[in-house]
Amino acid sequence: MKRIAILGSTGSIGKSTLNIVESFPDRFSVVSMAAGNNVELAFEQARRWRPQILSMATADAASQVQDKLNKAGLGSAIETVQGSAGSVRVATHPDADFVVSAIVGVAGLEATYEAVKAGKTVGLANKECLVAAGDLITAEARRQGKPLLPIDSEHNAIHQAMRGGRRNEVQRVWLTASGGPFLHTPASEFAKITVEQALNHPTWKMGKRITIDSATLMNKGFEVIEACRLFDMPPSQVSVLVHPQSTIHSMVEFVDGSLLAQLSVTDMRLPILYALCYPDRIESDLRFPVEELRRLDFLPPDLEKFPCLRLAYQAVEAGGAKTIALNAADEVAVAAFLEGSIGFPDIPATIEAVVRETPARIPESIEEVLVVDENARLRARDRIQYVGSRV
Ligand SMILES: NC(=O)c1ccc[n+]([C@@H]2O[C@H](COP(=O)([O-])OP(=O)(O)OC[C@H]3O[C@@H](n4cnc5c(N)ncnc54)[C@H](OP(=O)(O)O)[C@@H]3O)[C@@H](O)[C@H]2O)c1
Repeated sequence: MKRIAILGSTGSIGKSTLNIVESFPDRFSVVSMAAGNNVELAFEQARRWRPQILSMATADAASQVQDKLNKAGLGSAIETVQGSAGSVRVATHPDADFVVSAIVGVAGLEATYEAVKAGKTVGLANKECLVAAGDLITAEARRQGKPLLPIDSEHNAIHQAMRGGRRNEVQRVWLTASGGPFLHTPASEFAKITVEQALNHPTWKMGKRITIDSATLMNKGFEVIEACRLFDMPPSQVSVLVHPQSTIHSMVEFVDGSLLAQLSVTDMRLPILYALCYPDRIESDLRFPVEELRRLDFLPPDLEKFPCLRLAYQAVEAGGAKTIALNAADEVAVAAFLEGSIGFPDIPATIEAVVRETPARIPESIEEVLVVDENARLRARDRIQYVGSRV
């Protein structure tokens, strides 16, 4: 029985993880869970899964859940905690064998890092952790001798394909991108893009932040950085290919010219199951209808139309604080776009300005990462206020 801690249980990845646990009750159980502010769902999940600890993002959310648990007679069985210290307790629970890291954004960083430091095997969906502090996290995982197992479908595909050869035989990795909802929209129309249009992803159902990041291609930029850090590769060996069907999740090219690709349904339960079972595979009903496969299209990404991808390559080349700023500015800009304070083209413009103003230096601790992150957020908010005041 593998005992799981879930960071971000109320989100899209968290719910898919619980769905897997539900499907394989003899293999997996839930030890602890962390959520943000969705009190109703966190309570329902706690009632169903009976974690030993449940953490909520704020004191207010935690006390609301506590009230509900008390009324349901579960108040003494489930400890309710809060904030980032609460997420850390969830991630480092002594009974947890495996931690699913699926809090969105830098809010999940400390808990993920502490899980790695506590010697847990971590399944990583939260790519922002690696964008902001990848070198620190991977170094700690190496020290602990524990694998970091990617749940992000592209990196999960690469992880699978890499098992087809030796590490020094890998020439390059190819990350595939659906291209998002604006693949065929002329750049001249980007200023008119609405929140509703941007949230309408063609192939995946995901949380709001990653869906907007997919529309700007910043998500693919983050994935380039994630690949560099997870697989210890220079950006020149990580290429992006637009593949609108999202059937091939990514490919590894070996020195002899062989390409190994991973194909499967567009369902995050599969990479979650792979990570939870690694190095084994178990039978599932997540079948891909190969007999219905007719075509696979590919085209190069347009870095002029989608500057976020170019910004990500530049930031990872510069390293350290630049990628922290890239993520922080994106987090703030996406939130502002979702609120209607800025337009779609203001997202890359904000990020570019903040990354340019952030001095390149290598942070040596998570605390330093969080300071750089906070400064970049302040810069992003200032710029957004300025842009907003001109509208
Ligand atoms: N969804 C996908 O298919 C997918 C694929 C690849 C990678 N990822 C990555 O996986 C991560 C999660 O994505 P998602 O789509 O599942 O996002 P999501 O649906 O927005 O869920 C985010 C989760 O984080 C929780 N959360 C937010 N702020 C928090 C805080 N301060 N403390 C504790 N919990 C907090 C949310 O709680 P509440 O809802 O309770 O507020 C929710 O459980 C992201 O890093 C994303 O890039 C997702």
